[in-house]
This record gives sequence, C-alpha cells and structure tokens, in this order.
Amino acid sequence: MKQYFKVDEWKIIEEGFDPHHHKIAESVFSLGNGRMGQRANFEEAYSGETLQGNYVAGVYYPDKTRVGWWKNGYPEYFAKVLNAANWIGIDILIENEQLDLAKCEVSGFRRELNMKEGYLKRNFRAKTEGGKLIEVETIRFCSMVDDEAGTIQYTIIPLNFNGALTITPFIDGDVVNEDANYNEKFWDEVKKGTGKDGGYVQLRTKKTGFEVATGMKFTLLQEGKVIPVSSQPVEREKYIAVKVVLEAAQGKPVTIIKYAANLSSQNYKAEELIEKLQETLQRISDKGFETMLAEQATAWAKKWENNDIIIEGDVSAQQAIRFNIFQLNQTYTGEDDRLNIGPKGFTGEKYGGSTYWDTEAYCVPFYLSTADQKVTRNLLLYRYKQLGKAIENAKLLGFKDGAALYPMVTIDGTECHNEWEITFEEIHRNGAIAYAIFNYVRYTDDEAYLVDYGLEVLIAIARFWSQRVNWSGERKKYVMLGVTGPNEYENNINNNWYTNTLAAWCMEYTMEVIEKVKLADQAKYAALVNKIQFNEEQETAKYKDIIQNMHYPYDEQLQVFLQQDGYLDKEQVLVKDLPMAYRPLNQKWSWDRILRSCFIKQADVLQGLYFFEDRYDIETIRRNFDFYEPRTVHESSLSPCVHAILAAKLGDEARAYEFYLRTARLDIDNYNNDTQDGCHITSMAGTWMSVVQGFGGMRVREGQLSFHPFLPGKWQSFSFNVSFRGTLLNVKISKNGVNIEHLLGKDLTVLVYGKEQLIKSNAIISLS
Ligand code: BGC
Repeated sequence: MKQYFKVDEWKIIEEGFDPHHHKIAESVFSLGNGRMGQRANFEEAYSGETLQGNYVAGVYYPDKTRVGWWKNGYPEYFAKVLNAANWIGIDILIENEQLDLAKCEVSGFRRELNMKEGYLKRNFRAKTEGGKLIEVETIRFCSMVDDEAGTIQYTIIPLNFNGALTITPFIDGDVVNEDANYNEKFWDEVKKGTGKDGGYVQLRTKKTGFEVATGMKFTLLQEGKVIPVSSQPVEREKYIAVKVVLEAAQGKPVTIIKYAANLSSQNYKAEELIEKLQETLQRISDKGFETMLAEQATAWAKKWENNDIIIEGDVSAQQAIRFNIFQLNQTYTGEDDRLNIGPKGFTGEKYGGSTYWDTEAYCVPFYLSTADQKVTRNLLLYRYKQLGKAIENAKLLGFKDGAALYPMVTIDGTECHNEWEITFEEIHRNGAIAYAIFNYVRYTDDEAYLVDYGLEVLIAIARFWSQRVNWSGERKKYVMLGVTGPNEYENNINNNWYTNTLAAWCMEYTMEVIEKVKLADQAKYAALVNKIQFNEEQETAKYKDIIQNMHYPYDEQLQVFLQQDGYLDKEQVLVKDLPMAYRPLNQKWSWDRILRSCFIKQADVLQGLYFFEDRYDIETIRRNFDFYEPRTVHESSLSPCVHAILAAKLGDEARAYEFYLRTARLDIDNYNNDTQDGCHITSMAGTWMSVVQGFGGMRVREGQLSFHPFLPGKWQSFSFNVSFRGTLLNVKISKNGVNIEHLLGKDLTVLVYGKEQLIKSNAIISLS
C-alpha cells in the first residue's frame, strides 16, 4: 500500500500538492471540536476538484426521500448532516489575479495536521500566471476550549513584487449538500450584516427551522503590527464579505487573523443569536490568536493524557492510532446528550444521519475507557430520549404494545433509512442498543441508570423481539424470518444466527434487569410498570418460552453456527480464490451476484462471538473464525477490528496484527478507495478496540478489569491509559513484561492472565 502521507508520530504530513489527492487530503486533515467541524478546504479560492464541507453538530435537514419504488413504512425524509456556512473563506487578489492553486504554479506545498496540539498548518509558494510569486502560511483550528469558535492565521509574503493585495474574508452560507436528493438548497437567509472588520450571516434551515448565526471578525497585520483597516463591505444573498486593499511590499509579511463562530438555535433563542455571536467574537478576538492556540494545545494535552496509546518501535502504527483517537475526540466530546457520532463525523456528507448502531457496538467501549462515564451515559440517554420515536417507528411497521424498533439511521429519532432490506430487516441494531446498556453497566456499575432509564428501553426492545419472531409449526421452534444481519451482502434471509442470538439475549438480560430494578427500587419499578403497562408475568413468560425454543442454525458436520438457514446452499468459495480484479465487490459486481455469493461484508456470526465470547469455548470460537473469516471481504470499515480482537483471543498474533493495520491506516492510506467522501469515524473506535481489547486483551469480568496482553512482534512496547470506576491506570506491555501503573483513584484489583493483582494507589506492578 502506497503511503501518500509522511509517517510521523504526532503529525499527518503531506508534502507536494497533488490535485488528484486533494479530496482525500481534505478528509484526512479535517478539523472539529464536537460542536462543529469542517473538511480541510482551502481558505482561498480553489477551482479544482473539492468537496466543501462545514458542519454544525445536530443541525440537519429532512431531505425528502427519494426511492425508485416506494414501500409502505418508508420514512418521509432522510435527515441529513447539513453543509453549513463556510467560515474559513479568505479570497486573495494579487494585483488583479486571484490566488487559486488550481491555476498557479505551486511549490513547497506542505500540509500538516498537528494532532498533539490540535491545529492544521499549510505552507506553499504560488506563482500566478502573471509571474507574481508569494509565500503563504496558514494555521487554523476549531477551538476545543470554546466549542463554538474557530480561528485562522493567514500570512502572505510577496516574494518578487510590490503591489496591491486585496484580502476578502467572507462568510458564505450559499452552500449545497452534494448528496441533496432534489438539488435543493437547504438554507434560507434570516439576516446578515457587515462592519468594517467583520460581519455575520444568520440562516434558517428549511422545514426544520434551525437557525445558525455564523460570524467573523478579523485583524490585519503588516510585518507583525496591527494596521488600520479601510474596508469595503460586500453583501449578496446568504453571503457577506469585507474587502480590504493594501499595498504590499516585497519580503514584508501581511497577516490576516480571522476569528469565527457558529451559534445555533439549539442552544440560544433565535432572536438572541446575533448578540451572543458578537459576544463570542469579541471574547475570542480579545484573547487573540496566540492565546487561543496555546489554550488549544493545553486542551489537547489534557485529552491525550487519558486517550493516548503509545507504541514504541513502529512509527507508522503510532501515527495511525493517534490519528484515530484524534478524529474520535474531534467528533464527539460527550458534553451534550442531543449529539452523537456519525460514521463520517465532520469529515463528509455520506451516511446522512448521525447515528447508526456503530455508536453502541463500536464507539461505546472507546468512550467508556477513555472518558468520564458521563460521556457514555449521554450516548445512552440520546437513545432513551428517542424511545418514543422508536416505539412509533415499530408501530408504523405493525408492532404494538410499546414495542420499539430503533432506526437504522437517525438524527432526531425518526427512521431515515429507505432501502427495505435494511430499514425493515437490519433489525439487529435494536440489540446493539441493549448491549450498550449492558456494557455501560458492567463497566461502570451505574445500576441507577437501569432504574431510571435503562429498563424502560430494554423492555421496549424485548417487546419488539418477542413480536418479531414467530412459531414455526414445522421446526417446532421460534424463527425470525426476512432479516439482514450485519453482513449486508445477503438480504431477506431467515434466521440470521447473530440476530436470533442477540434477540434471545436481549430478553434474558431484560429479565435480569427487572430483578435488579425491583431489588433496587420497588417504587420506581411499580411506576415504570404502570407507565408502560407492563404485564410482567405474561410478557416474561413469553420471553422465557422464546429463549428456550429459539432456532439457532447450526451445521453438525462443520460444527459451526450458520450465518442463516440457507448459507450452506451457496456455492462455497474462499476470498483467497477471488481475483483481485473483482474487489471491492460492491464496486465491481452486480448486487444480484453479491447476494447469491457466500462472500461476507463484515463480521456477522463473529460479531456475536465477540459480544458473547464468555458463552462459548475457545474451540467453538476457533472453528467459526476459521470458517467465516476466509469468506469475509471486510468491505465495511467495521469488519477488521472484530477480527483483530478474535484473532488475538485465539492466539493468532500475526493475523491480529494484520487486521489491526487494516483498520488503523484505513483512511490515511485510503485502503477502501473512498476516503475522499470522508473518514470512517466510527470504525476508528474499532481501531482502539483492536489495540486495547485485542493486543491488550482487556475485558471486564465480574466487575473486574482483566488483561491478557501480548506484544506484536514488530513493536518494542505499547501502552494505554484506561479509566475504570474512578481509577485511572496506565498499562504498558513491553518485551520485559506487563507494567500497570496506578495514576488516580482508589486501590484496584485487576486480573492479569487470569490472576488477581492488587494495585495500590500510585503504585506500579510489574509482571514478567
Ligand atoms: C455497514 C454498517 C454500518 C454503516 C455505517 C455500512 O457499510 O455495513 O454496519 O452501520 O456502514 O457505518
């Protein structure tokens, strides 16, 4: 695999400008702070190929559904992550020529994403068609301290001329979504205004009525000294700019510092937005660029304290894991329970809505171990608050009595997916939501969550499963017909082993939690029973019957669980025998051919073995792994990590490492040939899992942290921090053995290779 970006422990570096690679770089160099984010578009005009992207978390547009053949039950709209006003823009005119890297001769081009301190830097020289040569340096970031703000320092040095330089910072709300279904523009203008050194645009989304005020304030410096601005406002629909013409002198730097902010009506009254925006702009410009940059470095240092994974002996792996952790922290900070983690975060439009099962199945473990428990709690509360809509969604499909089907993709709780084989059939997502509750509680011991919120969600999910199965007179078993498992390369199948297993487990876990809640707070339990009209005796009797009589497809001869009843009817071919010219299948084969083949997109049976590994002996896991992995094409970014963890568990260190590399450098090396659309944010949590749960062998067993680590052969050591129930540990695995250092909190007993080890506060234990 060609490594386009330079390898560095803390930076992603691009040297030389390659327009063909620009959209990929725009994704990889994306910036965000949980509240807003953007692709790494250029500040100045660029007429080459680009995907412009600025996003404000939680602000979406319900784009009217577009399908070829409408099916009853389809959602009316697809809630899209919305391309919002561009606040980075700075047009540069050199005498009368526009600076545009698609038209200039570019040299010395370098982009650098500094992940340690959280900023993007770009340097280049550009020669215009008329021969004017300039040198440019820009630094920008989305503030982690003030999450509604961002700033840019843009410096130009004329290298071979004295002459007029026109600098026009602007805010442009006249933007479109590339994936708009009907080529509509999603924003209307509410108001705008310009002053001598700034301006704002307030926009309202059509239909949803979100209002976002985006503003700027700027300062100009020549040779480092602030200069007075004589400016000219420019206004057109949804656009404001302030044009400044100055006399530039050869060798003398001219700098514009542009402060920007995005405030949304999610957090303020619409009529107060401009006043609050001005306050924010004043506050950050009073602070100044240097102070903001220093604060940014401190905020990131704090994040890295808990999040970093240090790998010694392999810079490429080190860079990759930090890139994944960096992007996850840029996407979601856990401050706001209305927000979630879109598969593309703030790096692109694809996948529309912000929430998939990815959050519960992949992201939750990352946030549990690297952030305060309130972060994961907020992710769970997001779903709790959308329970009503999940119940409505199930009702629309014909379910009743408070059964809930959470959407395949959503922002506000409403189902947005509109392909019947996924919308109606890929229902395993419901189980992932229950699993996340289980995972959260086993990790944090926050049983109060179950009492106040968790059980209500669990019962609604259990109700769904109990209605979704049916009794087969033929098999004398409960069956689940017409589903799609995690492997989206077969649809409308019967008895997906993973879904059946998960459904039965959900009912089992719900009953376990009912007992816990009764014990913890009888009164609250009674109130819940009343609120949701829960007939415990009757409903749990049904759950028990289903659990005892569920059909789990199994092949006696191979002794493996069958992905679905008909899986072995398919022609059995292995991926190793599939010519590379056919890959990726989803780009090279017709859908029909994919559906009839035995090739698997991502972990399916193996996803179940990963979730419920304690229920199966190692040989069962091995047989299934050895059967399914060779049939898996890993064409979902979510696939390699689960395989890495299972391979590690099976002691296959080489394969575990191979899968790890595939997930870790997926976007940096553009493995799936789709990074130009945005980065695979949710699978980045899977990368973290590959290291901590795979190589570190970390699990929670009966309320205790347990480690079963090994050191990948290429590495000298790796170490990670993990917070667990108020205690912070640093775990280091090196050629000398395992060191666990207690950094914060109370004494803790952990299991290392199955043996209990007490780690006292501030102490270190070393095991060879
Ligand atoms: C995967 C799904 C996933 C979605 C969003 C699809 O390609 O098959 O499992 O939820 O991407 O990441």
